This record gives sequence, structure tokens and C-alpha cells, in this order.
Amino acid sequence: MTPPAPAQDDRVAPVDWEALREAARDAMSRAYAPYSHYPVGAAARVDDGRTVTGCNVENASYGIGLCAECGLVSDLLNSGGGRLTHFTCVDGRGEVLVPCGRCRQLLYEFGGPGLLLETPAGLLPLSEMLPQAFGPEHLA
Ligand code: THU
Repeated sequence: MTPPAPAQDDRVAPVDWEALREAARDAMSRAYAPYSHYPVGAAARVDDGRTVTGCNVENASYGIGLCAECGLVSDLLNSGGGRLTHFTCVDGRGEVLVPCGRCRQLLYEFGGPGLLLETPAGLLPLSEMLPQAFGPEHLA
């Protein structure tokens, strides 16, 4: 089966995955992870060419810690909205990491099935990382 095309192709500017990874590493350097000692940084391209980022922010009440992707989605909306087209996230060593299940759902809301993810197994559309996703279309 042919994977769906990214939400938007490289019409704005070609995607520089290395630069996107660097933006994620930069965000990771500002993570607040005193409990897990597992800093995470995330970065994504928006369909207008912007880059948005986020880092994880933990809490003394462990269960309410925020994943890096939460910050990224907040950055997306707070900087003008739009659709996520390309995404990467890194761990404390700067290595590419897979987003957790909850964060795949967060990303689905703003990128849909065609959002292209950089993973340790290569570039994959979100439709392969979150098959049969529940999304806004179900509520229409
Ligand atoms: N974490 C993220 O920020 N994003 C993910 O997709 C995976 C997990 C964070 C949550 C927690 O602060 C730390 O990594 C360890 O689980």
C-alpha cells in the first residue's frame, strides 16, 4: 500500500531534517526533567514553513508532567496555527526518539495521517505510527 503523501509537500522550502533535529536538540537543552532525568526535545515544520518546538516539563506531581509534544502543539497555536507537516524528536543524547502513544494522538489532531515522522526506523507517515486513528473527522 502506498503511504499517504505528507500533509504538504516541500513547496514552501525543502525540509532540512538535520536542521529540524538541531531545533529539537536545542529545545531538549531547555527541558525540565528532574524526576525522570530523561530530557526530550521535539521540532516540527508547519505548512507555512515555520518551525515549532517543545521540551518536556515534569512536575513534583509526577503524573501531570508534560511531554515535549505538548509544548510543541502549544507553540504551534501560539505562533499562528497551521498544520504540522514534518516532525522529529530527540532524547537527552540527541538521538531520534519515537513519540509516545498519547503524543501520536496529539500530533494527529494537527498533522493528520500524512504528517511525516522521523523515527529510528526511518521516515514514516503518522498513519503507520497510529493506524486506524480516532480523530476530529469522527466527530463531524
Ligand atoms: N516524553 C516526551 O516528552 N515525549 C515522548 O514522546 C516520550 C516521553 C517525556 C515524558 C517524561 O518527561 C520523560 O520523557 C520520560 O518518560
